[in-house]
Amino acid sequence: MKADVILGLQWGDEGKGKVVDVLTPHYDVVARFQGGPNAGHTLEFNGERYILRSIPSGIFQGNKLNIIGNGVVLDPAVFRSEAEALARSGHDLTQRIALSKKAHLILPTHRLLDAAYEAAKGDDKVGTTGKGIGPTYTDKVSRNGLRVGDILHDFEAKYAKAKARHEQILREMNFEYDLAEMEQEWLAGIEYLKRFQLIDSEHVINRILNEERSVLCEGAQGTMLDIDFGSYPFVTSSNTICAGACTGLGIAPNKIGEVFGIFKAYCTRVGAGPFPTELFDEVGEEICQIGHEFGSVTGRKRRCGWLDLVALKYSVMINGVTSLIMMKADVLNDFETIKIATSYKIGNEFVTEFPYEIGGDLTPVYTEFKGWQCDINAIRRYEDFPPELKAYVEFIEAQTGVPVKIISVGPDREATIVRG
Ligand code: GDP
Ligand code: IMO
Ligand code: MG
Repeated sequence: MKADVILGLQWGDEGKGKVVDVLTPHYDVVARFQGGPNAGHTLEFNGERYILRSIPSGIFQGNKLNIIGNGVVLDPAVFRSEAEALARSGHDLTQRIALSKKAHLILPTHRLLDAAYEAAKGDDKVGTTGKGIGPTYTDKVSRNGLRVGDILHDFEAKYAKAKARHEQILREMNFEYDLAEMEQEWLAGIEYLKRFQLIDSEHVINRILNEERSVLCEGAQGTMLDIDFGSYPFVTSSNTICAGACTGLGIAPNKIGEVFGIFKAYCTRVGAGPFPTELFDEVGEEICQIGHEFGSVTGRKRRCGWLDLVALKYSVMINGVTSLIMMKADVLNDFETIKIATSYKIGNEFVTEFPYEIGGDLTPVYTEFKGWQCDINAIRRYEDFPPELKAYVEFIEAQTGVPVKIISVGPDREATIVRG
């Protein structure tokens, strides 16, 4: 069997957590393939709301095995607080979560380095989530990282060496810090990890696929935050794209099946960096308020704007998206006019191919749509959608060449329309 992938096509926060939860009943295993606690994946059902950061979003539907893959960077302290909170609310995950021994560990000093590097960038700062993501992936690539498997042998010495190296950099940067409390929590987190299955996840996943059992790979962040194809340097430090599922789980490219690409009916971005369709007026503010566009991890206000088809088509291409999933259409219920950027005007040229740079002298060119101006939250069949919304969806399908198979009309698990 082939593994299916679900990933974000914009700047993150598209609603990946919700959709993974909705699709989990169709799969035997859910596996996260990259990112770390910079992610905040929200799930709502039965009046409960959960925000998951390093734990995959397949934990609430049936007793499915959830794997944290080798491409993920794991902060044991965050993982512990997340898992313990879930256990307190009746979801004991000890038998249902398995961690790749090859996943890299976020050290407390990685978090300090994240803060120090951001401070040193001054006005050019990325606006990271401050979770130590960049420094951890940097250590991975420079072959200095510590992995989950390292906690099983001789860990103290390995940790002391990495910490000393980080502290030297922090001293050289004149960065003031207090490590003691963070370190205590982190070391308790390391002990806590030992209760879980620490596995060679590439073998486990390939065995599952060979046994004709199904796997859903869950991405974090979004394509426009990808280290290679995102709006560099205002990106995260991993490959958020479909190829990241191959490297982050050990799945061969020819074993990838369906690629579900998720996008919001508009765009948001949190943190710094270019955003062509960003709205600075009351329309942007309205989208932000109606859509509750505030970061689920940092609480930061998300920047809002119209849907950007130039960027969306690029994401579809890079990921080989086979099915689109449109989220939060309900947020646009009240708007008289809705816009989609179909090209960029750069200087005197009209550009439809996503360019190297999206900052500077760039103006989005919009196609306008009549808004549906009615409440769609209670609708559960595509046939019952207002014609204006159908026109919006069908325009996106025609432009991308990919069917919109799922449409979400509210945060709850039930507020989901799956088209036949
Ligand atoms: P993720 O990081 O991609 O999982 O997305 P987040 O959880 O960070 O952000 C998505 C937000 O939108 C969450 O607060 C969800 O509860 C909410 N949400 C998801 N789908 C819908 C929808 O169709 N309509 C509305 N109004 N909210 C939604
Ligand atoms: P989910 O999985 C939205 C953004 C940060 C910052 C940049 C780099 O919930 O969609 P990092 O801490 O990764 O070094 O920050 O990436 N960012 C996200 N934005 N959703 C996320 O995750 C994000 N994870 C990182 O705001 O601009
Ligand atoms: Mg999020």
